[in-house]
Amino acid sequence: MPSHLLSLSDLSYDDIINLLDTASDLKEKRARGKTSSALKNKTLAMLFEKSSTRTRISFEVAMTELGGHAIFLNYKDIQLGRGESIADTAKVMSRYVNAIMARVYKHETLVEFSGNATVPVINGLSDLEHPCQLLADLLTIREYKGRFKGLNFSWIGDGNNVCNSALLACALTGMKMTVACPGGYEPNAEIVERAKKIGGEINIIHDPMKAAKKADVLYTDVWVSMGDEDEYDQRLHDFKPYQINSRLLEQAKHDVMVLHCLPAHRGEEITAEVIDGKNSAVFDQAENRLHAQKALLLKLIS
Ligand code: CP
Ligand code: NVA
Repeated sequence: MPSHLLSLSDLSYDDIINLLDTASDLKEKRARGKTSSALKNKTLAMLFEKSSTRTRISFEVAMTELGGHAIFLNYKDIQLGRGESIADTAKVMSRYVNAIMARVYKHETLVEFSGNATVPVINGLSDLEHPCQLLADLLTIREYKGRFKGLNFSWIGDGNNVCNSALLACALTGMKMTVACPGGYEPNAEIVERAKKIGGEINIIHDPMKAAKKADVLYTDVWVSMGDEDEYDQRLHDFKPYQINSRLLEQAKHDVMVLHCLPAHRGEEITAEVIDGKNSAVFDQAENRLHAQKALLLKLIS
């Protein structure tokens, strides 16, 4: 296991399987009401530069259920928001807490943070990646499909942070990934290269119908990510043909699972009919953030 989790490719295939096995075990124990005190007296600091529902709640509940504690920090409320440096903040926080999870605008902020922290740093979403999301997604895919190798994973929409982590996740686990996005919204070129080097079979196209053909997994995310708000009108125009709706679903395999990291904008990137329909796994996916992150916290902190 690495000491920090900034990118999904910080993990090996074995690390991922190990984390998923622990997550499944913890999930099953939770369902039986079995509690744990594995992280007793341990504290996680959770630093946010932008909004969150799932990440904030699932990490906090994870720490509570493992016998530890989590502190929510809005960057504006600490001295970081008044100009204290990232390096000093990371050094000071490391003297108090056992791990730091941060959601930031710029990925470089996390790199600088982890370079100065002496405790594990976890990426809770940056402009480049969302590795914790993909751990939960892999857990969900394994629960529904029982395997990864050879599955057709199709991403419809923006080549954004979640898409970047998905490219690495697919490469590491042997899923074939097709991305259908409008020109100019392709995923990060350096990540695509890295994923290909890992062995990823990647196809980046512009036709959503073609991408959806024979898909085992159909995934989408918002058209306007946090930080992209200035481009709202242009993006809504550009992404219009990239909606996951029942017509697109017909192209996929009959047992395709539909994923969305949430929050969703019904009527934009996905229709209500699909997200609430029988192929949707989005709420299991959201729940799995809790189990996957518990496994991650146990590995990084203990
Ligand atoms: N999927 C996800 O990270 O959701 P939040 O923005 O609510 O944390
Ligand atoms: N791509 C989205 C994901 C939110 C969980 C964003 O960055 O806003």
